[in-house]
Amino acid sequence: MKSEKTGDRLDPTIFVIFGGAGDLTWRKLIPALFDLSQDRSLPDEFAIIAVDRIRIGDDAFRHRLNDGVKRFARWGKAKAAAWGRFAQHLTYQQGDFKKLPTYTALGKRCTALEKTWGRKAHRIYYMATPPSMFGEIPAYLGKAGLARDRAWARIVIEKPIGYDLESARALNAVLAASFQESQIYRIDHYLGKETVQNILAFRFSNPLFEPLWNRRYIDYVTITVAETVGVGHRGGYYDHAGALRDMVQNHLMQLLCLVAMEPMVSFDADEIRNKKADVLHAIRPIHVSCAVRGQYGPGDIERKRVAGYRAEIDVAPESQTETFVALRLYVDNWRWQDVPFYLRTGKRLPRQASEISIHFRAVPHQSFPPEASLGWQHSTLVLSIQPQEGISLGFQAKYPGPKMQLRPVNMQFSYRGSFATRSPDAYETLLWDVMKCDATLFMRADQVEAAWTLLMPVLQGWQSTPSGDFPNYAAGTWGPEGIQALLAPGHSWPLPTELVRPT
Ligand code: BG6
Repeated sequence: MKSEKTGDRLDPTIFVIFGGAGDLTWRKLIPALFDLSQDRSLPDEFAIIAVDRIRIGDDAFRHRLNDGVKRFARWGKAKAAAWGRFAQHLTYQQGDFKKLPTYTALGKRCTALEKTWGRKAHRIYYMATPPSMFGEIPAYLGKAGLARDRAWARIVIEKPIGYDLESARALNAVLAASFQESQIYRIDHYLGKETVQNILAFRFSNPLFEPLWNRRYIDYVTITVAETVGVGHRGGYYDHAGALRDMVQNHLMQLLCLVAMEPMVSFDADEIRNKKADVLHAIRPIHVSCAVRGQYGPGDIERKRVAGYRAEIDVAPESQTETFVALRLYVDNWRWQDVPFYLRTGKRLPRQASEISIHFRAVPHQSFPPEASLGWQHSTLVLSIQPQEGISLGFQAKYPGPKMQLRPVNMQFSYRGSFATRSPDAYETLLWDVMKCDATLFMRADQVEAAWTLLMPVLQGWQSTPSGDFPNYAAGTWGPEGIQALLAPGHSWPLPTELVRPT
């Protein structure tokens, strides 16, 4: 987790990217590493070795990555000389991921770099490949002896971590055959977002809210991750995944853990991850009747006509894949017993908004006359993850005038208004943390498996019963009507808030 970067001296580091010619490297990894270099957060002795199958020379390769940096990096408009200096650290190695010589050649390159520097280097192996390679690469790294040094070798793996519980266990076993758990960094990019990290800061560095953060004061919690985008060019992947695997198993479950976890004793990575794992273990088994699935049909988003999911590229014309999920969950422990947590996520919704809303209970006794409290609303605390970044607290105030009239008002904090600095991209934070051997923001094997265990009844239930009514929501609407039935009386799905923009 990023703290003060200045003053932190990093050891020599070799960053190996498997899938170095792919989209993730171009769009996310190299722009993030470039930004870190501009912030002087990389060691002087630093090398990136991109490994992939295609034949391409170092210069052409660097040229392609420079294009990604210009488009996506925070420092994308930096002078050409800055890129030139960074690019000196970047080389390409053509190789087949399924052949041992690729790994022995890689090992030799790393040793040669260490010789030049006269110092041992950390080796970070980043799997930016299609998931089909996730099992093979760690095994070859093990065979080639490149994983052996526990203190110096680490592996980074992107989601999806498995396709279901069984495959996740199998993948974790493959990783564990070559690497110790402490060497494995499973990325969930949501955890790298500033506003997500801020959930812990907000909850546990202020004495104000924690006393209220329980079943006594909280009526229910909603977690929304709404996207306006469709599946774009990822239909091939998405049609085999669906929203439950793509978003709920990882991002939404991680958000839920941060909201529901007990205070940590220290800022130690395993202490925090233990507290999150406790939440997953306390979640009541989810019955398929507590889940609603949806798939978008054609509709209008931001006044533009868009196609339905089944008409997207690489999507089956009769696809049963869900692009929307809503769930009702309970965390069975002293703090949360019987407080519903409602989760929803979907593509092609009317607005992009990731928000967690804490809905507080009503006052125990309403002492104001009924006519004073006609506009009364529950107090709600909204943690806005994106695109608005901030926190707002809705409560009641007296409307000006001779009569006692209550009206809901808002108190707001926005990142843009309070901090004169732009939030780094999640990948910047996460890559920095891998270099610093800080696993706080990464998923541990047991968390991944616990999340899959919870979702298996829903996955299996849906697999055995086709939906029958897909597509069941039009693009540009808030999902299928059936989601209302998940709510207890008096509860509602909130509309995303508008944080006040600073002037
Ligand atoms: C990814 C999913 O993990 O997260 C995508 O695979 C989704 O389908 C994306 O669009 C959302 O991330 P963000 O950071 O844009 O909210």
